[in-house]
Amino acid sequence: MERTFVYLKPNAVRRGLIGEIIKRFEQRGIKIVALKMHWVTKEEAEELYKMHKQKSFYKDLIEFITGGPIVAMIVEAPRVIEMVRHIIGNTDPLKAGTGTIRGEFALTTTKNLIHASDSKENFEREYKIFFKDEEIIDYYLDVQDDI
Ligand code: TYD
Repeated sequence: MERTFVYLKPNAVRRGLIGEIIKRFEQRGIKIVALKMHWVTKEEAEELYKMHKQKSFYKDLIEFITGGPIVAMIVEAPRVIEMVRHIIGNTDPLKAGTGTIRGEFALTTTKNLIHASDSKENFEREYKIFFKDEEIIDYYLDVQDDI
């Protein structure tokens, strides 16, 4: 089993898309093992996106991410890092396939609705910004026997 870190960006919350997005993970058989609503601080946003510090979009990205509450989660499934990236679609909604979250609900890269870790290393780094290990809850998810 593998885990990844996902968060729904402030515009997903403001647009009332929390249920729509979480539904897509649940129907795929992906198990949610940690979940919370959180207002990201400037420090957390800067830590999360430190690799983009020199980019032209950095300032707007930090402002956007800290401009309203997010929904953060850790999810679990076999090959879940790649699977979640597949479900959310390309960073640029124009390139995101129809049927993906960004391909169906997003229009611009800046406001592409959702984030997911792109590697094991980034998962380890990113989830620790938002969750303590004791907030990860292990339990039995029936559907994972049948997928
Ligand atoms: P990145 O890590 O490249 O993409 P992803 O979120 O798919 O892992 O970029 C992080 C975020 O930065 C991205 O979700 C939206 C924002 N961004 C822009 O606003 N403009 C850009 O040109 C890029 C590449 C990213």
